[in-house]
Amino acid sequence: MALRLGDIAPDFTADTTQGPVSFHSWKGDSWAILFSHPKDFTPVCTTELGTVARLKPEWDARNVKPIGLSVDPIDSHVAWEGDIAETQGNAVNFPVIADPDRTVADLYDMIHPNASDTFTVRSVFIIDPSNKVRLILTYPASTGRNFDELLRVIDSLQLTDGYKVATPANWTDGGDVIVAPALSDEEADALFPKGYTKLKPYLRVTPQPNR
Ligand code: BEZ
Repeated sequence: MALRLGDIAPDFTADTTQGPVSFHSWKGDSWAILFSHPKDFTPVCTTELGTVARLKPEWDARNVKPIGLSVDPIDSHVAWEGDIAETQGNAVNFPVIADPDRTVADLYDMIHPNASDTFTVRSVFIIDPSNKVRLILTYPASTGRNFDELLRVIDSLQLTDGYKVATPANWTDGGDVIVAPALSDEEADALFPKGYTKLKPYLRVTPQPNR
């Protein structure tokens, strides 16, 4: 059965460009972003891996470890990484899984046969420190991912794990947030000393509590 939000991310061992990885122990108590791409030496994927490498300070600031994957073998990944460094200006600085026998792709349902029966699609999984799957996204092969959006989701997850809030449409770090609907007004009064604006009984807006 396909993975769902809240499931424990399946553990696996795999060869990567940084040596063998046992996923849960490699991840430790960090967050992880596990993302697959269809094929090495393809243009969109080249820009994606270069972008993830460039964003290293952002992943580090959020305690997130990126890890890529395709069904290509290690020697292909390694040769391609030279092109990524050359064309994108950033050397790949995270492990890329070689999954030629599709072990990991099958565990994470990354092959969608009606899109391609051989290549992994552009899957993204955000996995939290307790190994729970917190986001699942699937992009078409022709659309490069927006990794700024994935950082934004991680910001939201990390904020909402710590405070009884939710984040509104297009929220970015520092913006106003929504008081958790489960809280009574009395509870909200106690938890949000900066106050909140009650637009509707179910829609109460407050400044981001950790700012
Ligand atoms: C790409 O990464 O450019 C790509 C990969 C598979 C199909 C189409 C484009």
